[in-house]
Amino acid sequence: MTDVINGNAIAESVREGLSACVDTFSEAGVVPGLATVLVGEDPASETYVSMKQRDCEEMGLNGVHVALDADAPPGELYDVIEDLNADPEIHGYLVQDPVPEQIDYREVLRRIDPAKDVDGFHPENVGRLVAGNPRFKPCTPHGVQKLLAAREVNPEGKDVTIVGRSSIVGKPLANLLLQKAQGGNATVTVCHSRTENIDEKTRGADIVVAAVGVPEFVDSSMLSEGAIVIDVGVNRVEADTEKGYELVGDVEYEGAAEKASAITPVPGGVGPMTRTMLLYNTVKAASQQEDVAVDLP
Ligand SMILES: NC(=O)c1ccc[n+]([C@@H]2O[C@H](COP(=O)([O-])OP(=O)(O)OC[C@H]3O[C@@H](n4cnc5c(N)ncnc54)[C@H](OP(=O)(O)O)[C@@H]3O)[C@@H](O)[C@H]2O)c1
Repeated sequence: MTDVINGNAIAESVREGLSACVDTFSEAGVVPGLATVLVGEDPASETYVSMKQRDCEEMGLNGVHVALDADAPPGELYDVIEDLNADPEIHGYLVQDPVPEQIDYREVLRRIDPAKDVDGFHPENVGRLVAGNPRFKPCTPHGVQKLLAAREVNPEGKDVTIVGRSSIVGKPLANLLLQKAQGGNATVTVCHSRTENIDEKTRGADIVVAAVGVPEFVDSSMLSEGAIVIDVGVNRVEADTEKGYELVGDVEYEGAAEKASAITPVPGGVGPMTRTMLLYNTVKAASQQEDVAVDLP
């Protein structure tokens, strides 16, 4: 029987652990604070930030949202960043990507206080991750690592093929799985749009992670029998539903599920973990800034 990895249930158990941390903060008179900054009105980004704010509310965190007009000049955003860097009640924040074209996202990242960079995208934090001394693990890769751990899948000595080399998923995940540390020690292959014979690389892997952004890119012919399949993809495809679309992953689920020993569904796999690991990083940031010791889950 294929193990369908229930990301919602695993995320819930991590949230229970985080709730206990929030209680510890409460005894010390601290409320961890997370701010989201959105420039413009991109509908998908609006959905993401509203989910992050709802998560804060449910977890008892101090959620703050800052909305700027789509044509806001860079200086206006930099002022917001400066204020958030200085705000003692905000322990972590993020500027939702993508930003409008007048804004240089790399410059935005450089201006965020690395101690409050709960996405883990500041160059200092990227460097620390690569060096094997992460401050904040980026949320989606960390979520994938937690899903594997929850299923007692130890990547040590395993061949892992990741399809996708983005800065938010593929590259940081490759780094995490490569670390000489618990949850790492894998042999990692990273594929991208210039990789030849991707199917050979995925078929040779014990664990396949799809983070391509192409609906159903990985099909059963690309998997070996018994592989563990982690589907990071979230794609809207037209469908005869109320909303006019449905969400599908980067893996052709039905066929892959027949061959895999374990697989994450979309939705309900990696997605809930990404949201939860942002709360995790916020709690971690608060612990570091307030010098309150908590037992992170
Ligand atoms: N569940 C979650 O919480 C979560 C979080 C983040 C992202 N996502 C989803 O995960 C997917 C990937 O996101 P992302 O931000 O990493 O995407 P991205 O920045 O667009 O990167 C996609 C990667 O896939 C590679 N690729 C694209 N087409 C390919 C092809 N035909 N053959 C081989 N490689 C190909 C690209 O190669 P090149 O580098 O050569 O262009 C790139 O490295 C998306 O569906 C996104 O919505 C989900």
